[in-house]
Amino acid sequence: MLDAAIWTACACFVVALFVLLRKSKVSGAPLPPGPKPIPFLGNVLDLTPKELWLPASQWAKQYGSIVYVHVLGYGIVFLNTAEAAVELLDKRGSIYSDKPSLIMCGEMCGCKNMVAFTPYGEQSKRQRKLMHKAFGLPVIPTYYPLLQTETHSFLRRLVAEPAEYMKHIRRYSGGLTLSVVYGYEAVSNDDEFLGLAEECVGILANRIASGGGIWPVDVFPFLQHIPTWMPGAGFKRNAIKWRRKMEEFVNRPYEFVKNCMKSGEYKRSFCSNLLEDEGIKAVDDFEFDLKWSANSMYSASIDTTLTTVSHFILAMMLHPEAQRKAQEELDRVVGTERLPTFADRASLPYVESVFKESLRWAVPVPLSLPHRLMEDDMYNGMFIPKGTLIFGNIWTMLRDETLFPDPEAFRPERFMEEVSPEMERKRNPQNYVFGFGRRECPGLHLVDSSIWLLMVSMLSTLNISKAVDEHGRIVEPVVKFENPIFRTPSLFKCDMRPRSQKALSLIKQSEIHTA
Ligand code: HEM
Repeated sequence: MLDAAIWTACACFVVALFVLLRKSKVSGAPLPPGPKPIPFLGNVLDLTPKELWLPASQWAKQYGSIVYVHVLGYGIVFLNTAEAAVELLDKRGSIYSDKPSLIMCGEMCGCKNMVAFTPYGEQSKRQRKLMHKAFGLPVIPTYYPLLQTETHSFLRRLVAEPAEYMKHIRRYSGGLTLSVVYGYEAVSNDDEFLGLAEECVGILANRIASGGGIWPVDVFPFLQHIPTWMPGAGFKRNAIKWRRKMEEFVNRPYEFVKNCMKSGEYKRSFCSNLLEDEGIKAVDDFEFDLKWSANSMYSASIDTTLTTVSHFILAMMLHPEAQRKAQEELDRVVGTERLPTFADRASLPYVESVFKESLRWAVPVPLSLPHRLMEDDMYNGMFIPKGTLIFGNIWTMLRDETLFPDPEAFRPERFMEEVSPEMERKRNPQNYVFGFGRRECPGLHLVDSSIWLLMVSMLSTLNISKAVDEHGRIVEPVVKFENPIFRTPSLFKCDMRPRSQKALSLIKQSEIHTA
């Protein structure tokens, strides 16, 4: 039997040597500053499994725009200002767009072909091109009718069962992507494909990729060869189980499209359109790319949307004055005889500010997703070693007091102020929350339309307020953030009800208009 203490001692020695060698290779240039590591293990104790963005923002205050830590020899950099993120992730994108190739996550659990994990190169470029076909800016208006139908169905489910709002948002976001990507219609909140996505994204975010996704086997690759039955090989047994789930997640919806196409009865979708496109089909690895790109869009859309919309509900509940102002604007511009549409957007500046402030306040993916540096690099006289994982610290950027005074406050008015075009660009949360450079989120244009319509439709028809218990006392929301990647609030109690009888009948009638 292997002695765990010996393993640990060997591990520590190799790691210490690795770190020392990395540093001394360069002509004395220092690494970026950061919290003091402990011998051998580095900053392992500084990296909290939950809400890592909180200590990361403290380090930003202490050490500045770029912070370096290391865990078991793996360098990790946090970029804390937009300037640093744009300079490195965007302008030097040719060496900052790779993804960590992790043995546990990529190889053993089979996630290496998901777009968010694909190394920078031909495959990632082909996959991103395919995704651009589905969700690039020019195609978004073609989804307006679908977005409207899905939003109205969401409102009807919400007024019928307001306490189940999280499930309804999950169904809305998953259902929308299932429809666009696979032509599949989710039939209930308990739909099998929605359940599969919830389970698999949960495993991915909370288990496989938790803590930056670095497992001991990533540092000591020989561990992947130890027998599965051995004590300490639990990670191997888990990997087998999780890999099976991930394969099911990728294959089942895709097989659904192919079977429907064979039978001749199918709804047009991203997959069916491309499967019928003879020109694209001729490209090598087409089917492989299609299957993984489809899955990547599906898996990436659900928790991100859920996080953003739950924060919006929380914000409206905690800030009734912002809600009232948005509703006054809607009543003035749209009136109470119809539901809002995309045509109203330009005439609703306050609602637009609520949308922007919700994104800024929520920061759905606070540390973005890690990029991997492909070559040694220098930044402002500091050395960043090849292989370092780079996190864009979006949380800190969107809490920057010079851009957003009183940053914890939810204050849509900040976006109503007259500022220079340069300042407007700097303060637009949409330039941050979707990440940076060549791996920027490909779903950003869809989100700009889908979440906007969802919010504006809720504001125009519902009052959102704190819940009241059976004794008539107001229930103050208690929110926790358990997910290490997405800042998803835990389920909180709230009261959502139609603003008026007229609003309720508009919601109900929307089914007739859709049918
Ligand atoms: C509010 C909603 C969303 C937010 C805040 C969000 C945010 C992000 C962020 C921060 C990244 C990492 C970017 C980077 O590595 O620099 C990302 C990547 C990604 N997102 Fe989104 N996202 C959202 C919705 C969506 C949707 C609806 C889709 C579906 C099309 C999507 C698909 C993806 C994919 C496939 C990647 C990986 C891209 C790559 O590595 O090349 N996201 N997203």
